[in-house]
Amino acid sequence: MVAISNRTKVKVKTAKYRSKSSTKWLQRQLNDPYVKKAHEMGYRSRATFKIIEIDEKFHLFKYGFKVADIGSAPGGWSEVAVKKVGKGNVASIDILDMKPIDGVHFKQVDFNLDEAKEFLFDALKGKADVVISDIAPNTTGNQVVDHLQIMALVEQAYYFAIDVLKTGGSFVAKVRQGGTEASLLSEMKKHFSSVKHFKPQSSRKESAETYVIAQGFKD
Ligand SMILES: C[S@@+](CC[C@H](N)C(=O)[O-])C[C@H]1O[C@@H](n2cnc3c(N)ncnc32)[C@H](O)[C@@H]1O
Repeated sequence: MVAISNRTKVKVKTAKYRSKSSTKWLQRQLNDPYVKKAHEMGYRSRATFKIIEIDEKFHLFKYGFKVADIGSAPGGWSEVAVKKVGKGNVASIDILDMKPIDGVHFKQVDFNLDEAKEFLFDALKGKADVVISDIAPNTTGNQVVDHLQIMALVEQAYYFAIDVLKTGGSFVAKVRQGGTEASLLSEMKKHFSSVKHFKPQSSRKESAETYVIAQGFKD
């Protein structure tokens, strides 16, 4: 586990050119020990700590495993995965571009398009042992709309995962707190031998995000 210490709080002054929400965001970034630690450790994102914690608890990655990272940019999760499973064994997809990572195959594409799966099978030379999804839609600020959007994406990611996973494989996805929708959860329980929710310590307490970890894919 990465030790994160608290520091003296930085106060950001308001500025005419900066909106209230940007000031709040900046203040939160400057006071976030995980942002500082990610920077010190050369990680691409603070999200890196979340997959490290998830892997520590659920032992997702083994050397030689094939990993599909959907919603991968800027690449924090892919960097952790490739270190664990070895070069050439990670295929990452995002609608945004991502700076290359040694040993990681990348395609800029919406994961819902057929070409995303084609890319994946091609890059991994077959199905995946692990599908990780940290996908987040742009938030609107409207709680109901945001909740519906993320749940729709989780469902899409789930159907993507069951199409590309090997028997015995694992699926990790970001969901909203309160957990996965009941209907999706019971669907997942039919196809995986274990389905659990986990909120890493590095996930902001005030954030509604948590993760669903489904293991032992039954096909
Ligand atoms: C929170 S970020 C992922 C951070 C990443 N796990 C890391 O460690 O750097 C979520 C990503 O999901 C991507 N995304 C959202 N919708 C997508 C879609 N339909 N297809 C592919 N990527 C998508 C966004 O562009 C964004 O880069």
